[in-house]
Amino acid sequence: MKTKSFFSFTGSLVVAALFCLASSTLFAGDTTKAIATLHPTQGSNVGGTVTFTQSGDEVKVVADITGLTPGKHGFHIHEFGDCSDPKGASAGGHFNPGGHQHGAPDATERHAGDLGNIEADASGKAHLEITDKMMKLAGSDSIVGHAVIVHEKADDLKTQPTGDAGGRLACGVIGVAKP
Ligand code: CU
Ligand code: ZN
Repeated sequence: MKTKSFFSFTGSLVVAALFCLASSTLFAGDTTKAIATLHPTQGSNVGGTVTFTQSGDEVKVVADITGLTPGKHGFHIHEFGDCSDPKGASAGGHFNPGGHQHGAPDATERHAGDLGNIEADASGKAHLEITDKMMKLAGSDSIVGHAVIVHEKADDLKTQPTGDAGGRLACGVIGVAKP
């Protein structure tokens, strides 16, 4: 009796797991909202949340970041969804599926991950709301699975390939959000 109920319990788990796998696969292409929770890198107190919401052919980005020094800080999507390195180096360079040069968010020549700067007030808080035509939430160039990085310095919007934004203060992997 004990053995039988153990197997039927395990069987249910397997069925449930397969169902979850099937639903996530089915709906992965339909992502309309993504989120990154930013965690401080070693020696930093910077953290926050960034949401990405599809709106027509644009993506609305809303960021709330705390723990910054007042002023501008480079703000990008980086290539790898890997924040395991204490200094955030494992996130790689800027997310650039199109093979472009680094640039300003409103430039035609830019990395898909180039979101420019966020600007912190005197209390170290930054709030940003922008819409972006280049980044995508679906398809092979989707930003989902990549990472958001907040930098020590301002992005000058021209130095190749990083905007000379300095060290990495926070890192967060972009995941599928609850719609
Ligand atoms: Cu960056
Ligand atoms: Zn860039």
